[in-house]
Amino acid sequence: MSDSDKGRVAGKVAIVTGGSSGIGRATAELLAAEGAAVLVTDVAVESGQAVVEGINAAGGKAAFLHHDVADEAQWEAAFARAAEFGPVSILFNNAGVRTETTPLENVTLADWQAHMAINMDGVFLGIKHGIRAMKQSGGAIVNTSSIYGIAGASMIGAYSASKGGVRTLTKAAAMECTSLRYPIRINSVHPGFIETGMLDTVVEEFGESFIKKRMISATPLGRIGEARDIAEGVLYLVADSGKFVTGVELPIDGGFLAR
Ligand SMILES: NC(=O)c1ccc[n+]([C@@H]2O[C@H](COP(=O)([O-])OP(=O)(O)OC[C@H]3O[C@@H](n4cnc5c(N)ncnc54)[C@H](O)[C@@H]3O)[C@@H](O)[C@H]2O)c1
Repeated sequence: MSDSDKGRVAGKVAIVTGGSSGIGRATAELLAAEGAAVLVTDVAVESGQAVVEGINAAGGKAAFLHHDVADEAQWEAAFARAAEFGPVSILFNNAGVRTETTPLENVTLADWQAHMAINMDGVFLGIKHGIRAMKQSGGAIVNTSSIYGIAGASMIGAYSASKGGVRTLTKAAAMECTSLRYPIRINSVHPGFIETGMLDTVVEEFGESFIKKRMISATPLGRIGEARDIAEGVLYLVADSGKFVTGVELPIDGGFLAR
């Protein structure tokens, strides 16, 4: 069997944050199916362990670690655990929250800071420790931003700001790695409306038919996306297919941002 028969990321070691559900779960499963050993990390333990059991039962290689991305010591533990599989060369900085649907004039400082702690500090810490781990042997980092890291929308100012920060931090980190001659590529993905737990919370708040109709009508391809749609983009960026791609923002949004 040649290496390419074994999968597009065969033999590589990946960390996927927020891997217990949604986009992280789909990406962990796809990377494992394409031959990577995957450390699935999340604060949600039971569902994360179930993801890992599913991967291992399907013949893949995965482990779970409880990991709050806002905590730097836990990042050190995550890289140490993943290194038990071998040198880490893929990091998907994906964990994120969206808790507000609030006009900016009513957003509490605590809510603002909670978004920044997970969505921005978490990605910063992942990039920091990812660079340390990969600067000799090389690798690829993908950060999950959002269509709302590029376009504005009302009532989600803190979320949007955190995702906009992820977008520009990605480009700054990508340029820094090229200037320091570190063999690390860093890109961001920008999901549109994707069927996951995060979307479910919005649906619960506003009612299924109202919100889904609005999301579908705002999406030129006329449907809500699947987590697997994002996972395929991440695989493209971290595998050899993306070897000339760095500092890119990749919308996977059914055309939302093209209007
Ligand atoms: N679903 C969408 O429509 C959509 C659109 C744009 C961007 N995104 C982004 O995609 C990413 C994944 O979200 P999803 O849609 O799969 O939602 P999800 O809620 O299914 O998954 C998010 C995961 O992150 C985990 N998490 C939350 N806080 C954490 C922390 N402090 N440390 C570690 N893990 C933590 C959650 O437990 C959960 O498993 C997020 O960054 C989100 O902002 C989602």
